[in-house]
Amino acid sequence: MPLVTSTEMFKKAYAGGYAIGAFNVNNMEIIQGITEAAKEVQAPLILQVSAGARKYAKHVYLMKLIEAALEDTGLPICVHLDHGDDFEICKSCIDGGFTSVMIDGSKHPYEENVRLTREVVEYAHAHGVVVEGELGKLAGIEDAVNVADHDASFTDPDQVQDFVGRTGVDSLAIAIGTSHGAFKFKGEPHLRFDILEEVQQRLPGFPIVLHGASSVIPELVATINKYGGNMPGAQGVPEAMLRQAAKMAVCKINIDSDLRLAMTASIREYFGEHPGDFDPRQYLKPAREAIKGMVKRKIVNVLGCDGKA
Ligand code: G3H
Ligand code: 13P
Ligand code: ZN
Repeated sequence: MPLVTSTEMFKKAYAGGYAIGAFNVNNMEIIQGITEAAKEVQAPLILQVSAGARKYAKHVYLMKLIEAALEDTGLPICVHLDHGDDFEICKSCIDGGFTSVMIDGSKHPYEENVRLTREVVEYAHAHGVVVEGELGKLAGIEDAVNVADHDASFTDPDQVQDFVGRTGVDSLAIAIGTSHGAFKFKGEPHLRFDILEEVQQRLPGFPIVLHGASSVIPELVATINKYGGNMPGAQGVPEAMLRQAAKMAVCKINIDSDLRLAMTASIREYFGEHPGDFDPRQYLKPAREAIKGMVKRKIVNVLGCDGKA
């Protein structure tokens, strides 16, 4: 099966009350861990590549690895640019074989976000590629603040119809209280389901995307801290909240930090127990298994897309 766009995946996910996992990829072990998990539970997949991942691994290496995964698993896989910053990176990914791109114009004033997003949509659609836009602003990793304190960054439901209508985007990322990284909430986790509901009412049937959706599993943080790490106060989005969002209009849930934590906990634990080892295969093999376990957990417990490939 060739790479696919997310169009069919989202249609079925919306109708079926589940979401597709969009997992960030940076190297072979991560790609293998994710795709092997999805194959075992027959889940459709979005593999997403950030600008940083392209810089780290090179576009061509990631594409070839993803092509290998496609051949190996036979799953429907969509390759997506995560957080495209400008037209040029989106064009480069479209020209280089991606089937989906995100243009993240959320840092710009509204009209500039509309203009930039429209420009990417025109180029993408002419090449059979789909586009995710963003309205509202998520807190960054370094902020480590309770985003619930920053109402100004939540998506304004009054803007969503105008934005989708004028840009022609295929899906929309919204800000309802999630944030990137491992430090998402200072106190009780809280998501603005009221905003999601309003957006859903104004855009019936339209796929919504949640970024910053890692759950920061406490046992992994404990393992990292036990073996020399230092992550006090790490906290993520409870899995039950994500499951609830997946039953609503959210069709794509972005997960990166939980994979980083799974991999890091595994490698730290390995060296804690085997301080003399130095063969990368010895510690990358369990790390790849840890990614696989985490992705299966997400697919079954959070996304509900097992058996939907
Ligand atoms: O949202 C950002 C993703 O977690 C990717 O992170 O830019 O460090 O690859 P990165
Ligand atoms: P996390 O940092 O919560 O995994 O979010 C990842 C993400 O949104 C990638 O775009
Ligand atoms: Zn993101």
